[in-house]
This record gives sequence, C-alpha cells and structure tokens, in this order.
Amino acid sequence: MRFEDWRPDFSVGVHSLDTDHKLLISLMRQLEGAFAVDDEQQYVTVLSILNALLDYTDYHFTREESMMAAVRFPGLVAHRAAHHAIIGNLLKVRDSFESDPAGTDRAMFQKFLIEAFHHHLVEIDKEYEPYMVARRDLAIIANEEFVNRDDDDGGLLFVDAD
Ligand SMILES: [Fe+2]
Ligand SMILES: [Fe+2]
Repeated sequence: MRFEDWRPDFSVGVHSLDTDHKLLISLMRQLEGAFAVDDEQQYVTVLSILNALLDYTDYHFTREESMMAAVRFPGLVAHRAAHHAIIGNLLKVRDSFESDPAGTDRAMFQKFLIEAFHHHLVEIDKEYEPYMVARRDLAIIANEEFVNRDDDDGGLLFVDAD
C-alpha cells in the first residue's frame, strides 16, 4: 500500500504541527520505499530512516504534548499514552531490524505500526484542533517555549566560552 501524502484537510489548525506531520508522513513513505528495495544498500538506508523517524517523532510528540497541555486539551492523558505506544513500537522495530534485518516481520510492521501511526497523525490528532484554534495565543506561546528550550541545540550550537 501507499500512504497518502499530507493533504490540507489533514490540518490540525497549527502550522508547526502540520509541518511536523508533513515531515513524518514523508519519512514513512521513504521507509516504505526503502523496505521494498531489497539491495545491498537496504540495511543502511532502512536503519537511517528508522532512526530519523524515531528522533523526529520524539521531538514532535514532545512539542505536541506541551501545546495540548497549554490549551488544556481534555484528552491529553490518553493522547500521551498513544504517543508512548507508538514510540515503543518504533523502538521495537528499529532494534529488531538493527540486530536481525532478515527476521524482522515487515508485514506486521507495515500493518500495525505505520498504519496506526499514520492514522494517529491524520485522524486522532484532529481531536485537539478545536482547542488549539480556540486558545491560539496559548498554543503559540507554548510552541515558542518549546522551540527555545535550553536543550534545543542538543549541545551542538553553543560552546562554553571558557
Ligand atoms: Fe501529531
Ligand atoms: Fe499526537
């Protein structure tokens, strides 16, 4: 199957989160493509996309949760649990593929993880849209605070002067 690319009706009403979703869906499509091409490059390609997907998913979920908390979205606890489950599944697949690429159940991965993940981005995330729209000012402040976090540079951009 091919995952649908991002469409305007997938919007959750917040530009930064829509941009995250576009990138995550793009990574899923790249991963699907890399799984399908069984050549000597596949191991390195799939593993690097899986790692990028994990990193950016973690970044996105943290941003989204801080914004949902700021606009007092009532479904935050259940939504956070869904995020944890997706991260757990992604970690399992990454570890399985890294240690035993031939033994990784790709069909299961495709069916349960990517479909569930894609469904989360384009369906479940829509649930918070009215709260983000109604409390847009609070959502914007939470996003700015997230982007300007102390650890945002990951220690790469700023070096202690002494
Ligand atoms: Fe999301
Ligand atoms: Fe979410």
